[in-house]
Amino acid sequence: MISRSRILILGSAGQLGTELQRSFSTAGTILAWDKERFDLANPEQVREAVRESAPDIILNASAYTAVDRAESEPDLAMAVNAGAPKILAEEAKRSGALLVHYSTDYVFDGTKSGAWVEDDTPHPLNVYGASKLAGEQAIARVGGRYLIFRTSWVYGPHGKNFLLTMLRLGRERDSLTVVDDQIGAPTTSIALADASRTIVDGIGAGRFGDSDAWAGTYHMTCGGAVSWCGFAKAIFERSQSRFGGKIPEVSPIPTSQYPTPARRPHNSVLSNEKLFARFGMKLAPWDDALDAAMLRLQDDVPAAGA
Ligand SMILES: NC(=O)c1ccc[n+]([C@@H]2O[C@H](COP(=O)([O-])OP(=O)(O)OC[C@H]3O[C@@H](n4cnc5c(N)ncnc54)[C@H](OP(=O)(O)O)[C@@H]3O)[C@@H](O)[C@H]2O)c1
Repeated sequence: MISRSRILILGSAGQLGTELQRSFSTAGTILAWDKERFDLANPEQVREAVRESAPDIILNASAYTAVDRAESEPDLAMAVNAGAPKILAEEAKRSGALLVHYSTDYVFDGTKSGAWVEDDTPHPLNVYGASKLAGEQAIARVGGRYLIFRTSWVYGPHGKNFLLTMLRLGRERDSLTVVDDQIGAPTTSIALADASRTIVDGIGAGRFGDSDAWAGTYHMTCGGAVSWCGFAKAIFERSQSRFGGKIPEVSPIPTSQYPTPARRPHNSVLSNEKLFARFGMKLAPWDDALDAAMLRLQDDVPAAGA
């Protein structure tokens, strides 16, 4: 049963890692590791550390996530996002552990008009996306008891993310411009962690059969879709109603007016139908999840928007 499991959370200081620690805190013995404990770019260290800790479940929330910096550090991005996951998959398969890994909408090029499904052909536009895709492929090649959850636009109460950046800019500026031609589903670290816990519990309880029935790649995002500009406006509306104070004027701009080293997909929307069909799991709509994240911030950031 999951209640006595040893659960290794990698990337425990990151956005998702922090929430996974909360969500899995009652699921077993938690081993929470971050960069201080071991370096994912060091393959032998990764292998030894996983063997020594002998986990039943590995939740890999660690990743090289600096999308623009990855353009100038492709080898490091590839080592962390592809080399390390391959070793995790090998070690999980060797011991029979469950590996839960997270990937990204940036494996796609954004040219599809509808929501992307798991079987659509990936075509990353940037080094980060290519490194994450290589990680997915490495895990799938190894096989075993693995789940890959592709998600998008992750944010939450902790870490570096769009929500916290907008709240800071809202305090500093009277107006700002935000890209309006990239569409996706903002997804909270809270919702991702809780959905992961429910699915892992279900697997532990045998509700989904053996791994032949469920191992694979699934899209896991909050529901609906919005542009970055629409997301920013929604954040400021909620910030004003919760925290009061002024809100900045937000103007839409095209991606061409906000050049970045890494290209990003225009349409990042992922279909979650496979997740629902296999696990009966559906995350909240993105705007409800934003409300929940703002509620969590209320105590932490009383001066936001003031
Ligand atoms: N953020 C998004 O918008 C987004 C979108 C789609 C998918 N995802 C995926 O979702 C997962 C969680 O993302 P997140 O937003 O929670 O990421 P995050 O906040 O950046 O956390 C990643 C963690 O990995 C650690 N890490 C980086 N390099 C490492 C290394 N060489 N050795 C050990 N640890 C290392 C980081 O430590 P340092 O901070 O000290 O470097 C950080 O604690 C990742 O797989 C990511 O690719 C994220």
